[in-house]
Amino acid sequence: MFLAAPRRTGKSTFLVHDLLPELMARGATPVYVDLWSQKSADPGALINEAVRKVLDKQGKGVLGRIRGAGVTKAGLGSWLSFDLEKLSLSGGATLANGLSALVRKGEGPVVVIVDEAQQALKSEAGRDAMFALKSARDTINLDPTLTDGRPAALGLVFTGSHRDKLASLVTGRDQPFFGSRIRDFPLLGRDYTEAYGRHINGLLPPDRRIDASEIREAFDIVGRRPQYLHSAVTRYATGDLGGEREFDSLLQLAQDERETHWDSYRRQWSALDHLQQAVLRRIIAEGDRFRPFDADSLAAYAAAIGEPIGAKDVQQALDGLREQELVVRLERGRYSLEDPSMADWLRAETGPSE
Ligand SMILES: Nc1ncnc2c1ncn2[C@@H]1O[C@H](COP(=O)(O)OP(=O)(O)OP(=O)(O)O)[C@@H](O)[C@H]1O
Ligand SMILES: [Mg+2]
Repeated sequence: MFLAAPRRTGKSTFLVHDLLPELMARGATPVYVDLWSQKSADPGALINEAVRKVLDKQGKGVLGRIRGAGVTKAGLGSWLSFDLEKLSLSGGATLANGLSALVRKGEGPVVVIVDEAQQALKSEAGRDAMFALKSARDTINLDPTLTDGRPAALGLVFTGSHRDKLASLVTGRDQPFFGSRIRDFPLLGRDYTEAYGRHINGLLPPDRRIDASEIREAFDIVGRRPQYLHSAVTRYATGDLGGEREFDSLLQLAQDERETHWDSYRRQWSALDHLQQAVLRRIIAEGDRFRPFDADSLAAYAAAIGEPIGAKDVQQALDGLREQELVVRLERGRYSLEDPSMADWLRAETGPSE
């Protein structure tokens, strides 16, 4: 399963605080790895390490029970038929071997959850690990001794904050999960704003209580990002300490939060030349259909700039946008925003059709 949602909307919190406990409660063994947890580490190594750690922990638990029962000489080697240290290194057991061992020894399904999975494509080892996970899924789920009557014994969940980059794992026949579909990770909604509203109103003086619908609206303004709602509410609750300002409305404060965030887009935008702005607009407007050099695109740039534009100019503009890390080039000439939330800002700032 592939799930995508924008930055800071609560993906990791959901995975760690809701999904992992739920899986364990249902007798599954989760393996969680966040590929952003150590920016400098190789994503492939992080995935292997996560599987190794869970195997190690489970093995030690089992060994503890064996030793407790009076068998003194048992070691991890006797529990596993391979050397854990060499998992997925050359000459060692494969990731699929490791995961099969987890299913067999854990006596329940295993679910591997890779947070910010698009990051795997950043290295050869990361790509290899993704292929290894795919192959493990296929071999394990086709083995009746492992599935044991269940529909599957190995589940894979991949999440990401960049839908287009995540899609790189599923578009193209040469990609590991070709044919899978990316779904929207549901954002926090009414349940959350109502629970939060009850909590906050319990703390505020009666004349400062906030209406549930106002909290909901403020949450929408900040793109359903809890952190920004919290700061708006905190500022609302504390007021303008020592300042001249009247108590602000929550909606105004939510807009302030958003503005702070948007100012950086504004700065980046105003540093671009007209053609770069036109190309960026086109990328946002066309999404997956964007073709930088086709006749329609060239006509759109020309209309925006007021003079004819050639493919060479467009190439230069694209290179500039990539150098400034506003645009990323994906496989097969697909282009996307480096930060997809910039599209929300641009639409709000200038209207969709301009
Ligand atoms: N259900 C929730 N209730 C309250 N706060 C939440 C909830 N979910 C997330 N948060 C808060 O929102 C912020 C962002 O959460 P989190 O890091 O899980 O998001 P994310 O989508 O994984 O972000 P990133 O794209 O940076 O990885 C954190 O400060 C977190 O504490
Ligand atoms: Mg996260």
